[in-house]
Amino acid sequence: PEFDLVIRNGTVATASDVFGSDVGITGGQVVALGRGLGAGAKEIDATGRLVLPGGIDSHTHIEEPRGGPTVNADSFASGSASAAVGGTTTVIGFARQERGGSIAQGVAEHLERARHSRIDYGFHLILTDPRPEILEEELPRLVEQGHRSFKIFLTYAGARITDDQALEVLAAARRLGALTCIHAEHHELIEFHTRALLKAGLTAPKHHAWAKPMVVERECVHRVCAMAEALDVPIQVFHVSGGESAEEIERAQRRGLKVWAETCTQYLVLTAEDLDRPGFEGAKYVCSPAPRSRADQAALWEMIRRGVIGNITSDHAPTRYAGPDGKSAFGEDAPFTRIPNGVPGLAVRMPVLFSEGVVKGRIDLPTFVSITATHAAKLFGLHPRKGTIAVGSDADIAIWDPAKRVTITQAVVQDANDHTPYEGFEVTGWPETTLVRGVPVVEGGRVVGAPGHGRFLPRGPYEMIKPRGIFPGPFNPVDGVPA
Ligand code: URP
Ligand code: ZN
Ligand code: ZN
Ligand code: ZN
Repeated sequence: PEFDLVIRNGTVATASDVFGSDVGITGGQVVALGRGLGAGAKEIDATGRLVLPGGIDSHTHIEEPRGGPTVNADSFASGSASAAVGGTTTVIGFARQERGGSIAQGVAEHLERARHSRIDYGFHLILTDPRPEILEEELPRLVEQGHRSFKIFLTYAGARITDDQALEVLAAARRLGALTCIHAEHHELIEFHTRALLKAGLTAPKHHAWAKPMVVERECVHRVCAMAEALDVPIQVFHVSGGESAEEIERAQRRGLKVWAETCTQYLVLTAEDLDRPGFEGAKYVCSPAPRSRADQAALWEMIRRGVIGNITSDHAPTRYAGPDGKSAFGEDAPFTRIPNGVPGLAVRMPVLFSEGVVKGRIDLPTFVSITATHAAKLFGLHPRKGTIAVGSDADIAIWDPAKRVTITQAVVQDANDHTPYEGFEVTGWPETTLVRGVPVVEGGRVVGAPGHGRFLPRGPYEMIKPRGIFPGPFNPVDGVPA
């Protein structure tokens, strides 16, 4: 046979084109496109199916140690299985620095955990304590080893850094050619609201959203855009949750800044009302930023169509709900401040976006490919190896049944959590087969890929995140020279 594998008679979609084509795969890479390709040692009939680049979920918390008593429900084996069930073939997770500790050690430990991944992976480096020796000694080595993105939190007591520290991280990122991803919420404003809510006895899950109204995010998004402008450094703003924050991103982009933004599945389908479900159920919907309104969802779709928001991630952050008695493990009378933040969503990201986006006519198929795979590949230095179907690319492919109807349940998503906030949500379109470098990880909805098939993806320097070389004043404060 001419090829290891041929996917025959499908409709291939990329971020720019949709065309009928076979896909010839050898050595884990796409080596030929076109109709009537020669024989493969193995063949998959994709008649009536879409052949899509495997998804890239560039914001996932998998097997990540978190401060406090709660644990991340997923291992790399379970998280990567769930991702592949939903058509995702690459995840970017997080290696974390403990305060007072070393990020190099956090990376070494996380590389060991990630060896059990079934799909390919990279890390963003969470910097909780950016001391000079970390920025000047550890980070240059880690960037050299292919960890080319950082994550900073401007809120969360255990992870946040100050604006002073954020500026030092941004300056280091500019010098090193790395991209900084930012969790942007006004910490003190959240704390002020929270103290007042607790004092007033307003402690239910829904009050989580009351503690962080949109202004908390909008102000901080504006602030980080200003920092990026002043230091002439590119940034990615994480989990933009609604219209007002997205407008800040759009204004920054109109000024020509390299400011990019993601939103997440949950902000397109959940609202603040989900936090007000009966009993303690609302705890399953606590994430930060908080889910907003239907109007915000419509605004986000519009910003996706305009290209202001470039990619959609899951921000998969699984914490089991039930303790041994089936009731909430955090206590059914726990104040919202004790509920772990974050929702799971690795498996549902692509199906929900396909169904709510393409099937409902909000976006076209190339836009779907862009927001689920191609843009993230470009932004994080993985393109063209990842994020597209082209000769020379890795054969990371989701063979998609566009008509399949699925009701999402915990059994469908196959992660190690005990609930999904999308329980009962109906979608049209689901991947049938997911290939990572030409090897099936999911076949007919069944996980067949072995833990350990995934590879670490080192990321070298790339054009997209180079600084513009334009400062707002006559001075370059990063290098201390005239601009
Ligand atoms: O609520 C969330 N999003 N938890 C996960 C950590 C983060 O903020 O991204
Ligand atoms: Zn191991
Ligand atoms: Zn965050
Ligand atoms: Zn996150």
